[in-house]
Amino acid sequence: MLQTLLVILVTNIHYWRVNAPAVALEMPITKKTEPIIDQKNSLNDLTNTQWMIETKSVWFSKPPQRDKLKAQHPATFAETDIVRLIEFFTKRGGKVLDPFVGSGSTLIACSQCSRIGTGVELIQRWADTARNRLEHKKPDPLQTVLEGDVRKVLPTLSDSSFDFVVTSPPYWMILRKDNDHKVKAERKAKGLETRYSDEKNDLGNLGSYEEFLKELKSVFIQCSRVLKKKKYMCVVVSDFRHKSKFYAYHADISQVIEAAGFTLEGITILAQDSKALYPYGIPYAFVSNIHHQYILIFRNKA
Ligand SMILES: C[S@@+](CC[C@H](N)C(=O)[O-])C[C@H]1O[C@@H](n2cnc3c(N)ncnc32)[C@H](O)[C@@H]1O
Repeated sequence: MLQTLLVILVTNIHYWRVNAPAVALEMPITKKTEPIIDQKNSLNDLTNTQWMIETKSVWFSKPPQRDKLKAQHPATFAETDIVRLIEFFTKRGGKVLDPFVGSGSTLIACSQCSRIGTGVELIQRWADTARNRLEHKKPDPLQTVLEGDVRKVLPTLSDSSFDFVVTSPPYWMILRKDNDHKVKAERKAKGLETRYSDEKNDLGNLGSYEEFLKELKSVFIQCSRVLKKKKYMCVVVSDFRHKSKFYAYHADISQVIEAAGFTLEGITILAQDSKALYPYGIPYAFVSNIHHQYILIFRNKA
């Protein structure tokens, strides 16, 4: 009985070895299909499979090394991540706004994927950095940097004039920490900026966290007005500690943005696996090494 079973098994393995590769080789050649964009897709230019992949709630950020100009700015996001967002939430030629454009990452991303970008920046130095980076990479007349206080600039833009908003708002007080904070000390040693600015209109310099959130709300009310109805806004933030208190910034800002006219549709965790670890708190208390950001995904109410 056992012998019969063994013979059947060996015969089958032999049959599979002889026949399977031919079938397997044939499949991709004869059944190759071109990716098709769903005709009902009014959001982006992705195939349904590409769409599905981007809805995974964890992304691993793998930014290339920052260029010298970008490295001057103390809190940038990676163009590679922003291109993914722009390509998911707009079609080619779509209009994108970043109300806090900093070193111009959103505009560089727009240029890379043929979208029309507008960025607002308070500090002349960073506005110039954004312009210089654009000039340096590939001059693109479709990208615009508007210099000034976002609370004054946004009211000058027309209603429903953008297809997508993507931004990383200032961090309250986080860039004002003492220089013994390890990351700050490292930047200082390299001669890099550790603050956005000392400007009083810089929202990150506002005295209280409540006041800071209130001012952000007024900015997001304007974002809702200039964004087309039912279109999306992504806000990239990180939680933080200030004077040993932990601030769940992503939760607080989500509430503020919902009160400004948006609905929270989801959160994608942006894992930053390549950051250095520091021995915070050891051996006395738990202090997190924050190695992720939140991409908060909102939709403009109708
Ligand atoms: C987190 S950074 C944005 C960095 C940007 N995502 C990048 O990759 O370079 C926030 C920016 O908001 C700017 N900012 C702060 N207050 C502002 C205001 N009232 N109006 C316009 N920009 C402001 C800061 O100067 C800073 O460059």
